[in-house]
Order: sequence, then structure tokens, then C-alpha cells
Amino acid sequence: MARRAILNPKGGCGKTTLVAHLARALHLKRQTVLLADADAQGSARDWHNAGDGKADFPVIDLDRPTLDRDLASLGAPYQWVFIDGAAKLEKMIAAAVKAADLVLIPIEPSPLDIWACDPLVEMIQARQTVTDGAPAAAFVVTRAKKGTLLAREVADAIKTYGFPIQRGSIYDRTIFARSTADEPAGPGAWEIHHLLKHIQDAFDV
Ligand SMILES: Nc1ncnc2c1ncn2[C@@H]1O[C@H](COP(=O)(O)OP(=O)(O)OP(=O)(O)O)[C@@H](O)[C@H]1O
Ligand SMILES: [Mg+2]
Repeated sequence: MARRAILNPKGGCGKTTLVAHLARALHLKRQTVLLADADAQGSARDWHNAGDGKADFPVIDLDRPTLDRDLASLGAPYQWVFIDGAAKLEKMIAAAVKAADLVLIPIEPSPLDIWACDPLVEMIQARQTVTDGAPAAAFVVTRAKKGTLLAREVADAIKTYGFPIQRGSIYDRTIFARSTADEPAGPGAWEIHHLLKHIQDAFDV
């Protein structure tokens, strides 16, 4: 069971959009997937309910601080467990860090967005010190703009955290914004597919 938590205390950075597309892409590859919604807003659940029927995998509400213990049993039958985090740092985010083997931190490529991750990075690093390095963590650039490179100040800001920037960026595309329920065609689908592959190559967890 691979356990991926998509976390960032910054609101609206693309957590739900990213987790929904990753989970759906794996489901369409006939993998077994569970999506746990750790956000009381219930966006992942809403996304699922608004779907076109092709995201026929379970999405469960799990916005409670026992999430890590609950997922140990609920997630066991699945090859992939995804956790969609809330835009705050509270007990259930600490529980999501505990539950995960890999935390993906979606960021828009701006220093301000990266600095907003400070408390989450500290939380992950504190966990890593008591677990011999788990969970692994990486930044995923999302809503990247075509034709712009990751500015040097962004790269510098990230470097201080010691987590890598995951190869495989997600660009700002109306297809992602318009239709979390629909499968993105063309370049959007390609980006999700490559991100999944690069994550697998980088983290054998
Ligand atoms: N790659 C993308 N391209 C275009 N729009 C995007 C992309 N990713 C997210 N969005 C849009 O940005 C907005 C916020 O995205 P989303 O709800 O996924 O963020 P979030 O981090 O889950 O928010 P919250 O912190 O409130 O849970 C949405 O309108 C979504 O459609
Ligand atoms: Mg969300």
C-alpha cells in the first residue's frame, strides 16, 4: 500500500485538484485506489460526487485526528491511498504526516508560496527525526505558467528546506480548473502521467 499525502497549509494552492487527478489516473490504470478527504470542507468528496462515473473509487471523509490509525486498517486493501489535506495545520495534518510514506507539497512557483510552507516543513522534519526519515517529502510545482522558468529565488527558497522539487510540473491549464471530474485530455493527461512516473522513479515508497 503506497500512502501519499498532498499537504500544504496554504489555501487554494491546488491540493484537491492534484490529488483528484493523480488518484483518478491510477484508477484508470486499473489500480485500486482509496482517497481520504482530511479537509472538513469536503472538496474531494464534492469532486467525486460531481463526477462522470469514471472515477469509480471510494472517497471517504476522514477529517479526524485518528486518521493515521484509521487508515492503517481502512487503506490496507488498496494499492494506493491518497490523503487530501486541509488549508490549516492542525492535529489531522500531523496525523496525515504520520500516515504517509510520501508527502507531496503542491506549490505555485513563487517565494511567498514557499515560505507559507514553513510550519508544514517543520512538522514533517520533526516526524522524520523520530522515524528514521519517514515520510519522504517533495515539492510539486503546480499552476506553473508556460514559458517561465522556476526563478532562482524560488529554487533558493526551496533549497533551504532540504526537500527536492519533484520532476514533473503541473501547468496552469483551464482543463484542470474546469473539470476535476473529467479526465484531462492531451497535455494535461500527459503531465499527470509523467508526474506519477517521476514520483515512482524518485521514491521507491
Ligand atoms: N493546474 C491547475 N491549473 C489551473 N487551475 C488550477 C490548477 N490547480 C488548481 N487550480 C484551480 O485553483 C483553485 C484551487 O484549487 P484547489 O481547490 O485544488 O486547491 P486546494 O489547495 O485544494 O484548496 P483548499 O486549500 O481550499 O483545500 C481551483 O479553482 C482549481 O480549479
Ligand atoms: Mg482542497
